[in-house]
Amino acid sequence: MSDTPPVLTQGLQLDERQRAMLAEMGVRLWWPEADVSPDALTDTLTEAVPPPAAAPVARPPVAAPAAAPVVRPAPAAAPARPLPPVVAAPSSLSHLDWAALQDSMKACTACALSQGRSHVVPGVGDTDRPDWLVVGEAPGEQEDRQGEPFVGAAGQLLDKMLFAMGLARGERVFITNVIKCRPPHNRNPEPAEVAQCSPFLQRQIELLQPRIVLAVGRFAAQSVLALAGVDEATRAQPLGKLRGQVFRLPTAQGTVPVVVSYHPAYLLRSPAEKGKAWADLCLAMAQLERSA
Ligand code: URA
Repeated sequence: MSDTPPVLTQGLQLDERQRAMLAEMGVRLWWPEADVSPDALTDTLTEAVPPPAAAPVARPPVAAPAAAPVVRPAPAAAPARPLPPVVAAPSSLSHLDWAALQDSMKACTACALSQGRSHVVPGVGDTDRPDWLVVGEAPGEQEDRQGEPFVGAAGQLLDKMLFAMGLARGERVFITNVIKCRPPHNRNPEPAEVAQCSPFLQRQIELLQPRIVLAVGRFAAQSVLALAGVDEATRAQPLGKLRGQVFRLPTAQGTVPVVVSYHPAYLLRSPAEKGKAWADLCLAMAQLERSA
């Protein structure tokens, strides 16, 4: 996938498979003190990877950013397109346990997406208080066919990203989407569809109690940040402005950190952004370490 020079891994305790996985993602690692060429310093991927600042973490070791990120103040810019509304879980969901919630999603006919689906795609993975909750946009064709999120090409890249983080589908991570049914022709979900479906995601978060939420792609970022009560002007910012910081999602059990990053499908189209995505994952891993 990448024809870039060899990865520099000095000081970062990644095993061979994780290094291979990062190389497969197209991510090279770089340290300021390393003897690298000026050309390498201008590479987007290397610029995006933070240098190691602390002792390596238990699983897997990653470089922590030097300072805790802060939420930037909202800009004055008007939103470019309609944003998902802020929704609260309706009382009809708040009493549901996991099994009942699954049943409720599978039986849902609240919007027209239910008419075209082959399968509802509630999510997959570790349901026992996973460390990670990864939130994407909506099922695509293959996900609709199989009833599992992220099983297509973007899903394969997501699996590589998880692997590079020392995770695997189903181990300490739950993967879901904002929208549980496939929009026709993979169009963007409508605000009304988000409003109908977001309470499912909100109840999933309450029941899963993940230690961190990773929202991939602008749509998922906007939706999760809406659940977090982030103001509309902030949510309207491009993903490039939303990434690189930690938001807070209040739940009944406490506050869950939220990091947003690029969608794997976007990374497949724009591989030069993979380094930034890896930096986001490092930020999230460091955040998780801090809260351990
Ligand atoms: N893209 C998503 O956002 N979710 C999926 O499940 C598959 C592709």
